[in-house]
Amino acid sequence: MPEAKKETVTLIDNTTGKKFDYPLLPGTLGPKVIDIRKLYGDTGYFTYDPGFTSTASCDSAITFIDGDEGILLHRGYAIEDLAEHSDFMEVCYLLINGELPNKKQKGDFVHHVTHHTMLHEQMQWFYRGFRRDAHPMAVMCGVVGAMSAFYHDSTDINDPRQREIAIFRLIAKMPTIAAMAYKYAMGQPFVYPLNELSYAGNFLRMTFSVPAEEYKVNPILEKAMDRIFILHADHEQNASTSTVRLSGSSGANPFACIAAGVASLWGPAHGGANEAVLLMLKEIGSKEKVGEAVKKAKDKNSGFRLMGFGHRVYKNYDPRAAVMRRTCHEVLSTLGVKDPLLDLAMELERIALEDEYFVQRKLYPNVDFYSGIILKAMGFPTSMFTVLFALARTVGWISQWKEMIEDPGMKIGRPRQLFKGAKNRPFVPLSQRG
Ligand code: SDX
Repeated sequence: MPEAKKETVTLIDNTTGKKFDYPLLPGTLGPKVIDIRKLYGDTGYFTYDPGFTSTASCDSAITFIDGDEGILLHRGYAIEDLAEHSDFMEVCYLLINGELPNKKQKGDFVHHVTHHTMLHEQMQWFYRGFRRDAHPMAVMCGVVGAMSAFYHDSTDINDPRQREIAIFRLIAKMPTIAAMAYKYAMGQPFVYPLNELSYAGNFLRMTFSVPAEEYKVNPILEKAMDRIFILHADHEQNASTSTVRLSGSSGANPFACIAAGVASLWGPAHGGANEAVLLMLKEIGSKEKVGEAVKKAKDKNSGFRLMGFGHRVYKNYDPRAAVMRRTCHEVLSTLGVKDPLLDLAMELERIALEDEYFVQRKLYPNVDFYSGIILKAMGFPTSMFTVLFALARTVGWISQWKEMIEDPGMKIGRPRQLFKGAKNRPFVPLSQRG
């Protein structure tokens, strides 16, 4: 069978007339990439792509997004199927190992996660160093980073066994750390994990139970929480995942890399949007004011954007938002919660999706648009929304980190720049600086 002809693209430098051919590499799905690794050596030029709108930073087999079609696959499985038929522990196994687990594999995986949920007892003193009104994401940045100071026996990135233990520790301990951040803010005692509970059930109990009374996990909330974790688990090379990869490329330990991911996720343009959506809806206040908000969002000078709308990749409805929207209605109606913010959100979506500005720019609701309304109905304060996103996204971050570390071709990430600063100039002594 003759070898398939290698596809190339040719770059012509019109200033010199020189031609350069670069390989066109196909993936299994999605756009091909132009392999420009030799470009600087050939041409002396860098490419220029602030925000990486046209740049593939790596190859990966974990998550595929088709932004035009609104498709999200994790290891080939559609997010709608995983949200409907799977659970978060299976999705964690899938993201990390590449296949859905069989019964035994799932049992072993859940057993390992369950038996890593407790936090080193001394770590609770970190919380006491924070002000009670510290934003829980600030606490998460600090405490997750501090894991490097407690779990030294799983920081050697070149030891597969240590990598595996670090992965279990991160997935297992994030709910405990997150729940403790909430308890500390509330001035309530920390609650230890209970091994008989599910991952989501354990988290709900550590968050909402108090020593003064029995706490029974509500199965509706447990299922909704598990599904929300699935919807946030991974999302290709987004800002926080790219932060984790770049941190990991220097050989930093996995706990430090995940702490970097938490910090990046906090931004309102990224994972902080779920908190910003609720604040925006509360600020709009009523359906009557929706038109005014949409008008403001279209005015570049207002500095106001419809939080939870738009996406770098999705130019169609974010498939996660569709599942989240359905779950929102299910949870609120089952709980008998009538939240005017849900009606407000739906009216905002309806008006925005009919407005030429949003249609032309293909701005649709993203994963953050509805999540906050469910989380509010479940009893979480707005300040905890991004913490929950970080909790769920930890498995995505660490799966992408693992994929990179196990790649023999891994190199430290070191982008260049288009320099626009001062040219070389002689030093001026202080006495002559006027
Ligand atoms: C997440 O990358 C991921 O995968 C992220 C994420 C994940 O799972 O990891 O999906 C999670 O971060 C979802 C996004 C949450 N952020 C928000 O909801 C914040 C509001 N949205 C935006 O700020 C914005 O849409 C971004 C940041 C999400 C995407 O920005 P881009 O791709 O850089 O697009 P852009 O800012 O260049 O906007 C393109 C145009 C601009 O107008 P023009 O200059 O072309 O006239 O659309 C406008 C923007 O002004 N626009 C908006 C808007 N989002 C974009 N106008 C009003 N409201 C908005 N929300």
